[in-house]
Amino acid sequence: MKRVWPSCSTHLARALLAAISVCLLWPITAVAQSPWGRDYWPNVTLTTHDDRQVKFYDDVLRGKIVVVNFIFTNCGDVCPLDTAQLKRVQELIGDHAGRDVTFYSISIDPENDTPEAMRAFMKKFDIKAGWTFLTGRQDDITLIQRKFGLEPAGEKPTAHSTTIILANEATGQYVKRSPYDNPQMLANVLTGQLNPKGRGSGSRLSYADAVAVATDESAQMFRTRCATCHTIGGGDGLGPDLLMVSSRRSPEWLARFIREPDKMLAVKDETAMAMLPNFRNLAMPNLKLSEQNVADLMAFIDVESRKTMEARAAAQHGEHHHH
Ligand code: HEC
Repeated sequence: MKRVWPSCSTHLARALLAAISVCLLWPITAVAQSPWGRDYWPNVTLTTHDDRQVKFYDDVLRGKIVVVNFIFTNCGDVCPLDTAQLKRVQELIGDHAGRDVTFYSISIDPENDTPEAMRAFMKKFDIKAGWTFLTGRQDDITLIQRKFGLEPAGEKPTAHSTTIILANEATGQYVKRSPYDNPQMLANVLTGQLNPKGRGSGSRLSYADAVAVATDESAQMFRTRCATCHTIGGGDGLGPDLLMVSSRRSPEWLARFIREPDKMLAVKDETAMAMLPNFRNLAMPNLKLSEQNVADLMAFIDVESRKTMEARAAAQHGEHHHH
């Protein structure tokens, strides 16, 4: 998937648009300095979640390794997944976060996304330092999206692009990724390819970790759609630990909840409502799964639960044997 630098840099003005879609990873060594500096980026004024005015190029982008996504806080389906995914990436990069890697979520619904609304959203997701939410004038934000090569899809914010951009402004490297990518892989891009200083030093991340993922389809679906918020036996995350969830809920309830959690909250389903306060009122998003997807996922959660329980029982048995 790698392309060499010269093939990317031929058409300057439109290059970024093309390049970030074509050149997934550009070799550091071939990069002298960024062709997309102050002249390329709009230096518009944005407002942060804590009510500070910042310039997009000078303050947000210049000289930094950044993760950028576009969100709006009223988004019901894919944005929460997107945010949960980035949160996981931020955890994985450890102390790089806020030190040499900065996260930005830019609102594409600035009318509703006041600094206050963004702070509430951040609280729900328990967003840590090193991650700034930005809002501003609609036109300015649309322009920024265009400059990243993301066409705003239409009038409705719900049609927005959910691409994640990883970039090193200083070296002019821009990598486009999807919220469904493996968080470990995204973390590796940030601390490895984009960050020559960070490469190998003090980070326990390896490519082997990133590719050691289940290939089975339902495992894959769990990993890409659920694992950012849930574990099976690893404790609560943004959502509850799903270990043996089928023993505490009926199959009908589970199938319906996984399929349309938003509707169940809308009709004030008692069980669903009772969970909310334990998870900072973060509602599980409607992930637009088919009935088949849900059945596969429930089977997967059961199988994984059983494996975990068996392993625990075996470990305990081993201990008893010892005495
Ligand atoms: C953005 C985070 C997020 C994602 C992604 C997510 N969930 Fe959830 N999930 C939650 C939260 C938060 C709750 C509990 C609060 C609520 O919505 O009532 C929850 C609750 C649940 C419950 C109920 C647990 C119980 O104890 O009754 C199940 C089952 C569940 N999720 C399954 C899934 C599956 C399967 C996926 C992937 C297809 C998934 N979730 C994706 C956040 C998420």
